[in-house]
Amino acid sequence: MTDRRLEYPATLRNRDAILDVLRGVLPASGLVLEIASGSGEHIVHFARAFPGLTFQPSDPEEAALQSIQAWTLDSGLANVRPPVMLDALSERWPVTAANAVLCINMIHIAPWRATEGLFHGAAKLLPGGAPLYLYGPYRRAGVVTAPSNEAFDASLKARNEEWGLRDLEIVADLARSVGFSGPVVTEMPANNLSVVFRRV
Ligand SMILES: C[S@@+](CC[C@H](N)C(=O)[O-])C[C@H]1O[C@@H](n2cnc3c(N)ncnc32)[C@H](O)[C@@H]1O
Repeated sequence: MTDRRLEYPATLRNRDAILDVLRGVLPASGLVLEIASGSGEHIVHFARAFPGLTFQPSDPEEAALQSIQAWTLDSGLANVRPPVMLDALSERWPVTAANAVLCINMIHIAPWRATEGLFHGAAKLLPGGAPLYLYGPYRRAGVVTAPSNEAFDASLKARNEEWGLRDLEIVADLARSVGFSGPVVTEMPANNLSVVFRRV
């Protein structure tokens, strides 16, 4: 049988730093929905570390769904649900309630509408106090963007003019407008940020 597991090299470099932050963010029990799970390597790593939580992976791409399923089966973990097809742009998500939402490395590799969809969708399904965790590179007012992030931004825009690093302040404005407090920001390796919003 063909091995459908995708391997994203960045995951091995960032998953433990992300896990450290998640230890202070995720609830002790409940359902964690991941948007844009990609290969599925992150969610399997997190599910192993948090056996008291149930994880719901998702992605809009068929190849990603197959990879997530393959990594989940390979892991033998019982606390990862089968992946669901979920496009953040969609009005109706196939998940209607969760206790936390994660979204790693998506908002700069999708049109701004996807970020709007992410916040609107997450606001509908999270209860008061629940976290929306984002990870990735950002621009920040008053902070010089690292040359590596400037180059990354240019390469993203060359691939798709609607892609590119987002301004953290603009993301925070969007978050407030749909009912989130925050952000609580943690600087991460390689000029990335962990950004946590909480449903008001
Ligand atoms: C760079 S990959 C990141 C995958 C994974 N989170 C990681 O960090 O390894 C970007 C992911 O965003 C997903 N994506 C793009 N547009 C999306 C949208 N509108 N809604 C949900 N996911 C989207 C892609 O299918 C892809 O899996």
